[in-house]
Amino acid sequence: MLSMLSSVVLYLHAVLVHSEITPEGYDPECTIQDEADFDFYQCDATFSKNYYCSLSLEQQDWLQSIWQEALKDRSYRPRKRREIRTLSEKEKTTFFKAINQLKTDTTIAPNKYDTLALVHTSRTLCSAHQGSNFLGWHRVYLLLFETALRQKDKSVVLPYWDSVLDNQNITAPRKTVLFTKDFLGNGNGNVTDGPFKNWRDMFNCPLNRNISRPGSELMSPEIVEWIENDISIFLVEDIIDHFWSAERLETIEGQHNLPHGWVGGMMAILSSSPKDPAFFLHHAYVDYIWEKFRQKQLRLGQNPEYYTGLGVSEWISESKNYNLTLFHAPYRNMDCFKWMKNIDGYSNIFTENLYVYEDSPTYPDCGNTKYLNWNTVLKRCIGIKPVLSAIPQTIKPYYVHMIIIISVSFILLIIISFLVFLTLRKIKRVTIFTVSNEELKPLCRRSVSNI
Ligand SMILES: *[C@@H]1O[C@H](CO)[C@@H](O)[C@H](O)[C@H]1NC(C)=O
Ligand SMILES: *[C@@H]1O[C@H](CO)[C@@H](O)[C@H](O)[C@H]1NC(C)=O
Ligand SMILES: *[C@@H]1O[C@H](CO)[C@@H](O)[C@H](O)[C@H]1NC(C)=O
Ligand SMILES: *[C@@H]1O[C@H](CO)[C@@H](O)[C@H](O)[C@H]1NC(C)=O
Repeated sequence: MLSMLSSVVLYLHAVLVHSEITPEGYDPECTIQDEADFDFYQCDATFSKNYYCSLSLEQQDWLQSIWQEALKDRSYRPRKRREIRTLSEKEKTTFFKAINQLKTDTTIAPNKYDTLALVHTSRTLCSAHQGSNFLGWHRVYLLLFETALRQKDKSVVLPYWDSVLDNQNITAPRKTVLFTKDFLGNGNGNVTDGPFKNWRDMFNCPLNRNISRPGSELMSPEIVEWIENDISIFLVEDIIDHFWSAERLETIEGQHNLPHGWVGGMMAILSSSPKDPAFFLHHAYVDYIWEKFRQKQLRLGQNPEYYTGLGVSEWISESKNYNLTLFHAPYRNMDCFKWMKNIDGYSNIFTENLYVYEDSPTYPDCGNTKYLNWNTVLKRCIGIKPVLSAIPQTIKPYYVHMIIIISVSFILLIIISFLVFLTLRKIKRVTIFTVSNEELKPLCRRSVSNI
C-alpha cells in the first residue's frame, strides 16, 4: 500500500516537474532533467495499444526521410564501423565536426541533434527498453543518427566505444582517453573541453558527466565474451532483458546499463542520455555485441531474424497494469519510427547491406594505436591509464623486444653454424692433402732447377 502510494506520488511529481518547464523550455537551475527523468511506472498497459512519439509530425517526417536516405546506401560491400581509437586523426575530426553540424543545423527545430535526442524520451522508452525491442529499436535509432551525420559528410561512419577495453580494475580509480579533450572531452562536471565543449541542451543546460563514481562499473569482459562467443547460449530469449532477477546483468541490456551509470551526468538519466554524443558510441558497441551474437546464431543454425516479443512484466507487482510484453509485440508500430514494426528491427538488411563491424582491437597489436596496450596480467588490450597503477603497462615494447632478440639470436646461430662448417671443412681438406716432405722434395728441386 505504502509503495503504491509512493509510486503515485513519484508519478505526480514527475508530471508536475515537467509542467514547470517554461514555454521556452528554459531551466536556469538545470535541475529538471534529474527530477523529471522518465519512470517505467508510466508504462501502463493501456498505452501499449497505440503508437507513441512525443515529437511533432514535422520532426517525425524528418526521421522517416533519413530512413529513406539510409536505404540508398545499400551495398554489397557495406561500410565498416570501427572502434573509435583506431580512427585516424582526420577521421575522428570529421566525425566530431559532423556531430557539431547537426547541433547547429536548425532547419529542424530546435536543431537536428537535439531532435534526435528527443526521440529517446517519455513513453517511447516503454517499448525501447526491458524487452526484445531494445535491440532492434536502438539499431534503427543508431542508423538514423549515422545517416544524419553522413548527410553532413559522406565519409563518416559511426564508430563504437568498446568500454570493456577501459574496464581494468573496478576497485582502483580509472581514467580513459575517451574522456579527454582528444576524444569526447572531460568527464568531470560540465563539459568544457574537447569537440563538444560548452554544449547546451534544449533547456539550456550544459552537457555534463561524472565518470567513474564509486560503485559504478564498465561492461564485464567475461559476460561480453560469453554473449559473443559461448556456443551454449544462442537463443535471443537468453540475452534480452525480460525478467526481473540477478541474471539481468547477464543480458545485453543489463550490461549496457553499466557504462550509462559509469559515465554519469546526463548519460545516467534515461531521458537525457542521448544529449551526450557518448550515447551513440556506447550504443554502437551494444549493437556490435548483438551482431557478434547474431553471427554466432547463424553459425549454429539459428535464425537471427527470429523475434520473441518478450518484455519485463513482473517488475512492479503493485501495478496490475504493468506489462511491457505488450509494448514489445512483434507487429506493434515502432515508437517514433512509425514506418516500421518492432519485428523489422531484427531484419538482416542492416548488417548485410548497410554496415558491418570491424573486430575490436585485440592481441597482439591492439589495433596498432597508441591509445591501447596489451596487458599481460589481464591478457587483453587495455585502453586505460590507471591513476594508481597496479598493473605494468609497458607490454608492447616487451613484445617487440622479444621479436628482436629471437631474430638476432636466429641470425647469429646461422652465422656461427656456417663458420663452424667452414672451419671443419678446412681442417678436413688440410688432412686430406697433407703430403710428406719426401714427396715434396723432387717437386722443389724441379722448380729450383727451372729458375
Ligand atoms: C586494483 O587496484 C587496487 C588499488 O590500486 C590494487 O590494490 C589491486 O591490487 C588492483 N587489483 C588488480 C586485480 O589489479
Ligand atoms: C560526482 O559524483 C560524486 C559521488 O557521487 C559526487 O560527490 C560529486 O559531487 C559529483 N560531481 C559532480 C561534478 O557532479
Ligand atoms: C555547471 O553548469 C551549471 C548550470 O549552468 C552551473 O549551475 C554549475 O555551477 C556549473 N558547474 C561548474 C562546476 O561550473
Ligand atoms: C503480459 O502480456 C502477455 C501478452 O498479452 C501475456 O502473455 C502475459 O501473460 C502477461 N504477463 C503478465 C505477468 O501478466
